[in-house]
Amino acid sequence: MKKVTLVDIFTHPIAQKYLKRSGMAHAIETAYYAYDLALKERVCPDLATKAALLHDIGHYEWFTNGKWDYEKYRKNDIHAIKGAERAHKLLIRLGEDPEKAKQIALAILLHTDSYLPEGNLNQNPLQRVVKMADEMDEEPEGQHHYKQIDQDVALQKIKQLDHKVQPFRKLLKKSV
Ligand SMILES: [Fe+2]
Repeated sequence: MKKVTLVDIFTHPIAQKYLKRSGMAHAIETAYYAYDLALKERVCPDLATKAALLHDIGHYEWFTNGKWDYEKYRKNDIHAIKGAERAHKLLIRLGEDPEKAKQIALAILLHTDSYLPEGNLNQNPLQRVVKMADEMDEEPEGQHHYKQIDQDVALQKIKQLDHKVQPFRKLLKKSV
């Protein structure tokens, strides 16, 4: 089975469209944090970095009279559900292993409980890593979604992260 890289995902037009909407800099920072946390928590870095990169691609633009409406967003947002579905579709289209695509989609679905009825989520280690990585880059009132990054710098960072994850992809191939 073909090994899907972060560059494959990042450069796909669907990912570009939605990463630009929800903040490319935040997605990349979260992926880097997820890599470090994955090593610490003994979670697969391949899954953690892919899920972290794509965790916010389900965001919708909640505007009122042309202005971002935070209240409307808080009330109506389901970005984790949409993100999980979009990420899954994209990964399968790129040729990702279906078991991995499912794990990544579930980690995106459960990276936040903001859209869920009250109650405790029982997250597995991968899902916890993606949630923690996201929170490490969070800023008040969603400011982390507006941090800017050059397209060239972004691609370089993704390539560097692929390089770090690569040895773990090889390991996984032997064990699965
Ligand atoms: Fe996020």
